[in-house]
Amino acid sequence: MLDHAPRPTRRLFRGHVANNHRPRTLRHAHIVGWGMEVPSQVLSNHDLAAIVDTNDEWIVTRTGICERRIAEPGETTTSLAVRAAQKALDVADILPSELDLIVVATSTPEHSFPSTASLIQDLLGAGNAGAYDLSAACTGFVYALDMAASKIQTGSINTALVIGAETMSRVMDWSDRGTCILFGDGAGAVVLQGSDTPGGVLNTVLRSDGSGWDMLTLPTISSRDTYLRDGEHQMHRIYMDGKGVYRFATRVIGDSIKQAMTEIDLTPDRINLVIPHQANQRIMDFAAKSLKIPEERIYSNIERYGNTSAASIPIALAEAANSDRIRPGDILALVGFGGGLSWGATIIEWTAVPTKPSRSITWGRRKGEYAIAGLRRPVIRWWRRLMLLSPTTWIIGARRYLVHRRDQLRAQLPAVNVSVPAIVKDRDSKDRDSKDRDSKDTDTNRKDKPNE
Ligand code: COA
Repeated sequence: MLDHAPRPTRRLFRGHVANNHRPRTLRHAHIVGWGMEVPSQVLSNHDLAAIVDTNDEWIVTRTGICERRIAEPGETTTSLAVRAAQKALDVADILPSELDLIVVATSTPEHSFPSTASLIQDLLGAGNAGAYDLSAACTGFVYALDMAASKIQTGSINTALVIGAETMSRVMDWSDRGTCILFGDGAGAVVLQGSDTPGGVLNTVLRSDGSGWDMLTLPTISSRDTYLRDGEHQMHRIYMDGKGVYRFATRVIGDSIKQAMTEIDLTPDRINLVIPHQANQRIMDFAAKSLKIPEERIYSNIERYGNTSAASIPIALAEAANSDRIRPGDILALVGFGGGLSWGATIIEWTAVPTKPSRSITWGRRKGEYAIAGLRRPVIRWWRRLMLLSPTTWIIGARRYLVHRRDQLRAQLPAVNVSVPAIVKDRDSKDRDSKDRDSKDTDTNRKDKPNE
């Protein structure tokens, strides 16, 4: 029986039933692995100046961005996410088959369905994991982390992979200098694991205000509310009210962290590192002022990657962890905000001791599981096709063919009927001739025998 399977209930007295098992104590969800992946293609501000009417100085002073990464034609949200996930699994040194859940925060999936998470589950060979995508725009990673951590804390799962991945370049209006200068592509991932040791994800605050839906929007199929640009309805392109979003972001970035800290009786000065959504350097500087902490405690890599939406927080987290900006015992505040409008903050007590991924036995088994996943995919797909040739399918197919042939023959019957009267007529005339002959013979006989 599974550890968390429901136990039988005990009847206390008539009409009163109580659960027989002890209340489960909450577990702790720790980040044990992290990884990031960005495309190698760099688009600098100078490159952008050749596309739209802008310049490096304007972009740097207003946003802090110098360059961003753009996916090559063959790269997708899934392919970036898989590479980030593999790095996170390497750091955690666990097998894909040990994952119970994969949650992917993305606004740029390849399909409405299947989910990007399902594609990643297959590519990793995570055969024991459930998988789903989560849509909360740039706040997506904070939401996804909370979903996975909550499942671990309640004991329903033990290990989860949480990914933020985007190919924002595919939904950019490259003629809109107000937005195309901001965004870039990339993916980041963390592995969360349950433990009885205190620490890990301590508290999360999630919020939404849908009344501001049109301030940052990406109209897609079946949307009534496409926006007009140069007289054309825009689909699959981002629209942003930059000033409105800026005001909203500066309001919520500090407040949500303060609220998440207050709920667990901590004050902002206890924070060692804030890892904010990388939207604009000025918004991040504002967070430092609002929290009254030094700017060095706000992690920023916006200069190199721009705004990678749901991927920006896990990319920054992975970079910070890899560059020893985070130490065991540190209190981190992750804060996201964006389309929805949505926002949220998570407080984490960092417990992982960063070690360089080693070529352990698990490393070999992991590579083996990736290889098996690669082989399994075509084999399963071919097997499904072969299943069409199963005996049942044969019988059904044969029956269908026979019914079809019968119907065809029935359809030809009128032509057969046409020839029937001719044959019948022919046969009748032959019969008549022979009868005539017979009667003539009889008459002749009668004539020959007049006395009979
Ligand atoms: N290059 C040069 N000039 C530009 C420009 C660009 N890329 N984009 C806009 N401008 C011009 C405008 O046309 C305007 O000119 P005008 O005064 O002659 O009309 C001027 O610069 C100021 O534009 P404005 O939109 O007021 O700039 P801003 O200071 O508000 O900065 C953003 C624009 C988009 C950088 C800023 O509003 C912002 O970062 N907002 C938040 C966006 C965000 O975080 N989005 C993601 C959330 S998840």
